[in-house]
Amino acid sequence: MIRLGILISGSGTNLQAIIDAIEADTLDVNIALVVSSRPDAYGLTRAEAGGIPTLALTKSDYEYPIAADERIARALQLAGVDYVVMAGYMRKVCAPLLTAFPQRIINIHPALLPSFVGAHAIADAFAYGVKLTGVTVHLANEEYDRGPIIAQRAVEVEEADTLETLEQKIHAVEHVLYPEVLQLLAQGRVRIADDGRVAIL
Ligand code: GAR
Repeated sequence: MIRLGILISGSGTNLQAIIDAIEADTLDVNIALVVSSRPDAYGLTRAEAGGIPTLALTKSDYEYPIAADERIARALQLAGVDYVVMAGYMRKVCAPLLTAFPQRIINIHPALLPSFVGAHAIADAFAYGVKLTGVTVHLANEEYDRGPIIAQRAVEVEEADTLETLEQKIHAVEHVLYPEVLQLLAQGRVRIADDGRVAIL
Protein backbone atom coordinates (compact mmCIF):
# COMPACT_ATOMS: atom_id res chain seq x y z
CA MET A 1 0.00 0.00 0.00
CA ILE A 2 1.38 3.44 -0.87
CA ARG A 3 2.40 5.70 1.96
CA LEU A 4 1.46 9.38 2.00
CA GLY A 5 3.04 12.31 3.77
CA ILE A 6 0.48 15.10 4.12
CA LEU A 7 1.51 18.75 4.41
CA ILE A 8 -0.91 21.16 6.06
CA SER A 9 -1.04 24.70 7.41
CA GLY A 10 -4.57 25.14 8.69
CA SER A 11 -7.88 23.55 9.56
CA GLY A 12 -7.14 20.33 7.70
CA THR A 13 -10.59 19.57 6.30
CA ASN A 14 -8.94 17.99 3.25
CA LEU A 15 -6.78 15.87 5.54
CA GLN A 16 -10.00 14.85 7.33
CA ALA A 17 -11.64 13.90 4.02
CA ILE A 18 -8.63 11.68 3.25
CA ILE A 19 -8.74 10.07 6.71
CA ASP A 20 -12.51 9.49 6.31
CA ALA A 21 -12.06 7.92 2.86
CA ILE A 22 -9.44 5.53 4.28
CA GLU A 23 -11.81 4.60 7.10
CA ALA A 24 -14.65 4.11 4.61
CA ASP A 25 -12.41 1.74 2.58
CA THR A 26 -12.67 3.85 -0.56
CA LEU A 27 -9.01 4.91 -0.41
CA ASP A 28 -6.23 2.36 -0.13
CA VAL A 29 -3.31 4.35 1.30
CA ASN A 30 -1.47 4.77 4.58
CA ILE A 31 -0.82 8.20 6.02
CA ALA A 32 2.72 7.86 7.37
CA LEU A 33 3.24 11.43 8.59
CA VAL A 34 1.44 14.79 8.76
CA VAL A 35 3.70 17.84 8.60
CA SER A 36 2.35 21.26 9.56
CA SER A 37 3.96 24.60 8.77
CA ARG A 38 2.31 25.96 11.93
CA PRO A 39 2.24 24.50 15.44
CA ASP A 40 -1.35 25.72 16.01
CA ALA A 41 -2.92 24.21 12.88
CA TYR A 42 -6.16 22.41 13.78
CA GLY A 43 -5.21 19.74 11.25
CA LEU A 44 -2.61 18.50 13.75
CA THR A 45 -5.43 17.69 16.19
CA ARG A 46 -7.21 15.76 13.43
CA ALA A 47 -4.03 13.80 12.68
CA GLU A 48 -3.46 12.99 16.35
CA ALA A 49 -7.08 11.86 16.68
CA GLY A 50 -6.43 9.50 13.78
CA GLY A 51 -3.28 8.15 15.45
CA ILE A 52 -1.04 9.63 12.73
CA PRO A 53 2.50 10.80 13.60
CA THR A 54 3.02 14.55 13.21
CA LEU A 55 5.80 17.05 12.77
CA ALA A 56 5.13 20.77 13.33
CA LEU A 57 7.42 23.55 12.16
CA THR A 58 7.30 27.17 13.30
CA LYS A 59 7.50 30.47 11.48
CA SER A 60 11.14 30.85 12.51
CA ASP A 61 11.99 27.48 10.90
CA TYR A 62 10.98 29.01 7.56
CA GLU A 63 13.45 31.89 7.85
CA TYR A 64 15.70 29.34 6.16
CA PRO A 65 13.34 27.73 3.65
CA ILE A 66 15.95 25.35 2.24
CA ALA A 67 16.85 24.06 5.71
CA ALA A 68 13.14 23.72 6.56
CA ASP A 69 12.49 21.68 3.42
CA GLU A 70 15.59 19.55 4.05
CA ARG A 71 14.20 18.74 7.47
CA ILE A 72 10.75 17.94 6.08
CA ALA A 73 12.21 15.80 3.26
CA ARG A 74 14.32 13.82 5.76
CA ALA A 75 11.32 13.20 8.02
CA LEU A 76 9.17 12.10 5.07
CA GLN A 77 11.89 9.75 3.81
CA LEU A 78 12.38 8.27 7.29
CA ALA A 79 8.63 7.64 7.39
CA GLY A 80 8.90 5.74 4.09
CA VAL A 81 6.65 8.12 2.20
CA ASP A 82 5.94 7.47 -1.52
CA TYR A 83 3.88 10.58 -2.29
CA VAL A 84 3.71 13.99 -0.66
CA VAL A 85 0.22 15.45 -0.54
CA MET A 86 -0.21 19.16 0.07
CA ALA A 87 -3.58 19.81 1.71
CA GLY A 88 -3.87 23.52 2.38
CA TYR A 89 -0.09 23.83 2.79
CA MET A 90 0.56 27.54 2.39
CA ARG A 91 4.31 27.37 1.78
CA LYS A 92 6.14 26.94 -1.47
CA VAL A 93 7.99 23.64 -1.72
CA CYS A 94 11.62 24.15 -2.71
CA ALA A 95 14.55 22.16 -4.06
CA PRO A 96 15.18 19.68 -1.22
CA LEU A 97 11.59 18.41 -1.31
CA LEU A 98 11.27 18.53 -5.10
CA THR A 99 14.50 16.56 -5.52
CA ALA A 100 13.62 14.02 -2.84
CA PHE A 101 10.16 13.38 -4.36
CA PRO A 102 10.40 14.11 -8.10
CA GLN A 103 6.90 14.18 -9.75
CA ARG A 104 5.58 12.87 -6.44
CA ILE A 105 4.28 16.01 -4.75
CA ILE A 106 0.56 16.68 -5.26
CA ASN A 107 -1.34 19.87 -4.45
CA ILE A 108 -5.01 20.86 -4.34
CA HIS A 109 -6.02 24.38 -5.31
CA PRO A 110 -9.50 25.93 -4.94
CA ALA A 111 -9.78 27.36 -8.48
CA LEU A 112 -9.44 26.22 -12.08
CA LEU A 113 -5.70 26.73 -12.65
CA PRO A 114 -4.02 28.55 -14.24
CA SER A 115 -6.63 31.12 -13.10
CA PHE A 116 -6.53 32.58 -9.60
CA VAL A 117 -3.30 31.30 -8.10
CA GLY A 118 -2.37 32.25 -4.55
CA ALA A 119 -3.75 32.02 -1.06
CA HIS A 120 -7.15 33.69 -1.70
CA ALA A 121 -8.30 31.93 -4.85
CA ILE A 122 -11.98 31.56 -3.94
CA ALA A 123 -12.35 35.21 -2.91
CA ASP A 124 -10.40 36.37 -5.98
CA ALA A 125 -12.61 34.35 -8.35
CA PHE A 126 -15.77 35.58 -6.61
CA ALA A 127 -14.62 39.21 -6.71
CA TYR A 128 -13.74 38.89 -10.40
CA GLY A 129 -17.30 37.73 -11.10
CA VAL A 130 -16.50 34.49 -12.92
CA LYS A 131 -19.49 32.27 -13.61
CA LEU A 132 -17.45 29.10 -13.46
CA THR A 133 -14.66 28.20 -11.09
CA GLY A 134 -13.68 24.95 -9.42
CA VAL A 135 -10.93 22.79 -8.02
CA THR A 136 -7.59 21.63 -9.44
CA VAL A 137 -5.35 18.78 -8.34
CA HIS A 138 -1.87 19.06 -9.80
CA LEU A 139 1.76 18.08 -9.40
CA ALA A 140 3.76 20.71 -7.56
CA ASN A 141 6.86 22.28 -9.04
CA GLU A 142 9.10 25.17 -8.02
CA GLU A 143 6.35 27.72 -8.79
CA TYR A 144 3.49 28.19 -6.33
CA ASP A 145 0.19 26.69 -7.64
CA ARG A 146 1.74 25.56 -10.91
CA GLY A 147 2.69 22.20 -12.36
CA PRO A 148 1.05 19.50 -14.48
CA ILE A 149 -2.70 19.19 -13.93
CA ILE A 150 -4.02 15.78 -12.86
CA ALA A 151 -7.71 16.57 -12.43
CA GLN A 152 -10.12 19.48 -12.40
CA ARG A 153 -13.76 19.77 -11.40
CA ALA A 154 -15.97 22.75 -12.18
CA VAL A 155 -18.22 24.63 -9.77
CA GLU A 156 -20.81 27.10 -11.08
CA VAL A 157 -21.13 30.49 -9.43
CA GLU A 158 -24.87 31.13 -9.21
CA GLU A 159 -26.68 34.46 -8.82
CA ALA A 160 -27.61 33.64 -5.24
CA ASP A 161 -24.07 32.67 -4.23
CA THR A 162 -22.21 34.68 -1.62
CA LEU A 163 -18.51 34.23 -0.94
CA GLU A 164 -19.46 31.96 1.95
CA THR A 165 -21.73 29.68 -0.09
CA LEU A 166 -19.17 29.52 -2.89
CA GLU A 167 -16.50 28.52 -0.35
CA GLN A 168 -18.78 25.78 0.93
CA LYS A 169 -19.40 24.47 -2.60
CA ILE A 170 -15.68 24.49 -3.47
CA HIS A 171 -14.69 22.74 -0.25
CA ALA A 172 -17.38 20.08 -0.75
CA VAL A 173 -15.94 19.34 -4.21
CA GLU A 174 -12.38 19.26 -2.82
CA HIS A 175 -13.34 16.72 -0.20
CA VAL A 176 -14.65 14.36 -2.91
CA LEU A 177 -12.06 15.02 -5.62
CA TYR A 178 -8.86 14.72 -3.55
CA PRO A 179 -9.56 11.20 -2.19
CA GLU A 180 -10.65 10.15 -5.70
CA VAL A 181 -7.40 11.35 -7.28
CA LEU A 182 -5.32 9.79 -4.50
CA GLN A 183 -7.07 6.47 -5.13
CA LEU A 184 -6.09 6.74 -8.84
CA LEU A 185 -2.50 7.29 -7.69
CA ALA A 186 -2.74 4.31 -5.33
CA GLN A 187 -3.93 2.19 -8.24
CA GLY A 188 -1.01 3.35 -10.40
CA ARG A 189 -3.41 4.94 -12.88
CA VAL A 190 -1.78 8.38 -13.10
CA ARG A 191 0.78 8.55 -15.92
CA ILE A 192 2.98 11.57 -16.51
CA ALA A 193 4.13 11.84 -20.11
CA ASP A 194 7.52 13.24 -21.13
CA ASP A 195 5.87 16.53 -22.16
CA GLY A 196 4.53 16.90 -18.59
CA ARG A 197 0.90 16.19 -19.52
CA VAL A 198 -0.90 13.82 -17.21
CA ALA A 199 -3.05 10.94 -18.43
CA ILE A 200 -5.41 8.82 -16.33
CA LEU A 201 -5.16 5.15 -17.32
C1 GAR B 1 -8.24 24.38 0.66
O1 GAR B 1 -9.36 25.04 0.12
C2 GAR B 1 -7.11 24.29 -0.34
O2 GAR B 1 -7.56 24.11 -1.65
C3 GAR B 1 -6.46 25.64 -0.18
O3 GAR B 1 -6.46 25.84 1.21
C4 GAR B 1 -7.62 25.23 1.78
C5 GAR B 1 -7.19 24.41 2.97
O4 GAR B 1 -8.27 23.93 3.69
N1 GAR B 1 -5.16 25.69 -0.75
C6 GAR B 1 -4.67 26.76 -1.40
O5 GAR B 1 -5.26 27.80 -1.50
C7 GAR B 1 -3.28 26.55 -2.00
N2 GAR B 1 -2.91 27.68 -2.75
P1 GAR B 1 -8.10 22.75 4.72
O6 GAR B 1 -6.93 23.11 5.64
O7 GAR B 1 -9.39 22.75 5.49
O8 GAR B 1 -7.87 21.46 3.98
